[in-house]
Amino acid sequence: MKISTVDELPKFSDWPAILLGIRPQPTIEQSPNLLEKFKQNPGSRLEDVDRWAAGAATNTLASVDQHIVEMTPEESHEAYIAFIESALVPRLPATALVEIGRGYGSVILGLARKAAFQDIPYFVADSTPTAPELAGLIAKEEGIRLTTGSANLSSHPVTDLEIPDGALVYTAYAAHHVETLSDEFIEGIKALKPETVVHIEPVYEHCDPSTLLGLLRQRYIEACQYNRNLSTILHHHERLGSLEIIQESRPGFGPNPLLAASVIAWKPRG
Ligand SMILES: C[S@@+](CC[C@H](N)C(=O)[O-])C[C@H]1O[C@@H](n2cnc3c(N)ncnc32)[C@H](O)[C@@H]1O
Repeated sequence: MKISTVDELPKFSDWPAILLGIRPQPTIEQSPNLLEKFKQNPGSRLEDVDRWAAGAATNTLASVDQHIVEMTPEESHEAYIAFIESALVPRLPATALVEIGRGYGSVILGLARKAAFQDIPYFVADSTPTAPELAGLIAKEEGIRLTTGSANLSSHPVTDLEIPDGALVYTAYAAHHVETLSDEFIEGIKALKPETVVHIEPVYEHCDPSTLLGLLRQRYIEACQYNRNLSTILHHHERLGSLEIIQESRPGFGPNPLLAASVIAWKPRG
């Protein structure tokens, strides 16, 4: 790992040039077909899928607090899981661990290997049809009992999973896909009767416009039509008395420095 600077970003990503109007914005990238690859490679483990998902890059830039750091994709992924672990551990114990918008389950399956998350049922839900199948297959290979279902962060309730009351519900890089979150998002999560909800998400309102990196982050979120009102809607609902924000931390880690995640934790009220 090596401390780098924002000046190095163009060596690792086309996005600074795209955001400055020097290059055209690409159409949405096709993600690799991880489910097919997993089926074609019997006995594959979580690390294999994480490696396929990371692609061919040998080194990558990540943001760690105020720093830009050059690291390998493996180091970046490990740091990402550790960042999520550090956001969730203070919210334990809980009756269940629930991830909404979990992709192929990389995060929850990574957490399930950590000491703090033993002896707790794991639930995951996503809006895509292939994600549950792949998450289920990897979990089976890892010997982890995972209940999978479907979810929509704009629906009430947010998932069809039958979750015990008092769960720890989290999202990680999932709510940012909803450009404008509505009241349904809050009410749909509250309907699960969680003890605590934690969002490990890029927060538009946390991008610091007094810095170059902050401005680039704002433009990146706007260009990709990612979410812009997560903090705003949570504060609105706090004022209404329907929830209490118990933590709101500035961007702490980003596998992509232009899309670093903050942590916001809240508890239902009312
Ligand atoms: C970038 S992936 C993140 C996956 C995982 N949480 C992680 O951190 O590795 C975003 C996931 O959110 C899901 N997603 C996007 N919009 C959603 C929505 N409205 N409701 C539920 N899931 C959604 C996508 O299908 C995808 O699996």
